[in-house]
Amino acid sequence: MEKEFWDKRWKKKTTGWDMGQVSPPIQAYIDQLIDKSIRVLIPGCGNAYEAQYLMEQGFKNTFIVEISQGAIDSFKARYPEFPEDQIFHQDFFELETTHPFDLILEQTFFCAIQPEKRNEYAVKMKALLKPKGKLVGLMFDFPLESGPPFGGSVKEYETYFLPQFTTVKMDRAHNSIEPRQGRELFVMICSD
Ligand SMILES: C[S@@+](CC[C@H](N)C(=O)[O-])C[C@H]1O[C@@H](n2cnc3c(N)ncnc32)[C@H](O)[C@@H]1O
Repeated sequence: MEKEFWDKRWKKKTTGWDMGQVSPPIQAYIDQLIDKSIRVLIPGCGNAYEAQYLMEQGFKNTFIVEISQGAIDSFKARYPEFPEDQIFHQDFFELETTHPFDLILEQTFFCAIQPEKRNEYAVKMKALLKPKGKLVGLMFDFPLESGPPFGGSVKEYETYFLPQFTTVKMDRAHNSIEPRQGRELFVMICSD
């Protein structure tokens, strides 16, 4: 059901979420990372500008997971240099790995899943991260009504992440792109 929905969006090119660039708050976060050997995952990556940016900055252990063939095709056409064996074409919720990640970057994926799957998202993130790994990125900060994109609040988001992680920091992003200003939280979620 979900796969069909996203395949249709990619086929019809109704991809209004696509910023055509790496998200500035995530770029600023990447820019202050020192260890370039870390394993990074970008779920629901779409055109994966963040993955390209990471690779170009020397983060060669960057992986993407995406359910829709249309998204994968679009990304590959845009950035053919990305290693094939670092692309997981599958449902994020079914992703299994024997090599957990140091960092998972969230960029308009959480808001794309059905809200009833948010708890499952938090549990899956915990399972995919190394013990001190981090989930970092952006989540929307507007009332949860119809979607996608599905909104939410810090209070609601904490109910999913606090049972899984010891640190859940969510602050208003100060460097969002103009249409998203005041509507995004920069989140950093990890266990100490
Ligand atoms: C709103 S788009 C965001 C794409 C990209 N992160 C961006 O910001 O441009 C959500 C993406 O998640 C993908 N997606 C939705 N559900 C998924 C799932 N369960 N597993 C993997 N990818 C999924 C969709 O195909 C779509 O490309």
